[in-house]
Amino acid sequence: MSSPASSPKVTTATLRAQKARRERITALTAYDHLFAGLLDRAGVDVLLVGDSVATVLQGRDTTVPVTMDQMVYHCELVGRAAQRALVVGDMPFLSYQVCPEDALRNAGRLLKEGLAEAVKLEGGAAFAPTVQRLVDAGIPVMGHLGLTPQSIHQFGSYRARGQDADEHRRIVDDARALEQAGAFALVLEKVPAELGKETAAAVQIPVIGIGAGPHVDGQILVTHDLLGLFTRFKPRFARRYLELADTIGKAVADYCDDVRSGSFPDSSESY
Ligand code: KIV
Repeated sequence: MSSPASSPKVTTATLRAQKARRERITALTAYDHLFAGLLDRAGVDVLLVGDSVATVLQGRDTTVPVTMDQMVYHCELVGRAAQRALVVGDMPFLSYQVCPEDALRNAGRLLKEGLAEAVKLEGGAAFAPTVQRLVDAGIPVMGHLGLTPQSIHQFGSYRARGQDADEHRRIVDDARALEQAGAFALVLEKVPAELGKETAAAVQIPVIGIGAGPHVDGQILVTHDLLGLFTRFKPRFARRYLELADTIGKAVADYCDDVRSGSFPDSSESY
């Protein structure tokens, strides 16, 4: 029997076909070669090199400071490890907001230098011309609606989005505008489950949720949340499958005890 891990390379067409077959899409973040290889071999469909690298690995408070050069660097580490998963590189803050030409140059870097196979950018209808410019140039684009963390200073909080009628309608309209502009998929973050359901039904392209309930076309999580490695805060939408931070803390404390007591190294660990 074939497992997802041994099935053919995932492309944007694969994801569209998965939606048509009502087969849920699996996606996780990856920032480095070691983790990307583990996730790819375990059969995840999409590896997102998220700008969340800023908060998860760089110890920053927001995703705003991460640079284009840093995203290219992390993408390339992931791109070389992924055999099957589709690799999507996040466009960092101000790499696409200035003008579509700028966006094209920066998205091109994620593909050429970073080995990404698609890019993701935050924003709705206002960014449709940018999405169209990239798609016309042959760069697949994933949209990102709902909570858009790069706009944290505009919104002032990471509260759930789409809770009032205006914002609800705008998110569905934005999803249609991005589809119209040629986006191949959307991430929908931190919105009521009913809005997730309505958005997924409103467009033909896959809607991949993070805190958008169970009725979307797939799910994405930050890998370090799923593994219990990132513990500064725990979003309600993140399910922890391991408590790796505790496990690592215990292993390191045991190592320190063994060194201090002289029980490491023993004769089998010596030459
Ligand atoms: O940067 C990121 O990790 C993301 C996911 C939360 C979807 O955009």
